[in-house]
Amino acid sequence: PNKCAIFDLDGVLVDTAKYHYLAWKELAEKLGFEFTLEHNEMLKGVSRMTSLDILLDVGNMKDSFTEEEKVKMATEKNNRYVEYISNIDESEILDGALSLLQELKNKGIKIALGSASKNAQIILKNVGIKSYFDVIVDGNSVSKAKPDPEVFTLGADTLGVSYEECVVFEDSQAGLEAAKIAGMLAIGVGQEKDLTKADVVYSSLEDFDIERYF
Ligand code: G6P
Ligand code: MG
Repeated sequence: PNKCAIFDLDGVLVDTAKYHYLAWKELAEKLGFEFTLEHNEMLKGVSRMTSLDILLDVGNMKDSFTEEEKVKMATEKNNRYVEYISNIDESEILDGALSLLQELKNKGIKIALGSASKNAQIILKNVGIKSYFDVIVDGNSVSKAKPDPEVFTLGADTLGVSYEECVVFEDSQAGLEAAKIAGMLAIGVGQEKDLTKADVVYSSLEDFDIERYF
């Protein structure tokens, strides 16, 4: 039986993936190229600096900047993103997320966050769901980015549950791959065509059948 649910944050519990996209898109436009929603799929679940590298590659500008310039660009993007998320509230919680968290709590299932974001704490606080989590692992607590499984295994280790007893909810290929590497069940949240690494895909958490997995 599964004992632990591990949630990615952006695009799974809260509708913040769109703000990451807007902030990256603004940077691309400043640099003079277009950054589409399809390009954006490659950035989901990926750390800030790696995201920048992928974006610059899209614009054929991969080797055009010094490390210092890149840090400046990433900071600019983050400042813009933080502006977007500074005023968000519970209306940004995605469909089905709140009731799933509540049902898991009622069943005594451990709940972990496994997010690459360094902004996770402020988002959880702003939308009011921080108290559901038994452990929060985010971009500040890990050194290796998804698809490395550290962001999920650290949560499981902290809670003392084995990896085979964990179910991961993810909207990114990098995150699904990380879950599989760890030996965890990988539930994709989104479109099947984008999430080929998932064990099973739900278009929304609303459709997730809790009795089947917990
Ligand atoms: C999540 C998002 C990515 C984002 C990453 C780092 O995984 O899906 O789009 O780049 O977190 O977020 P941060 O807030 O630290 O820049
Ligand atoms: Mg995500």
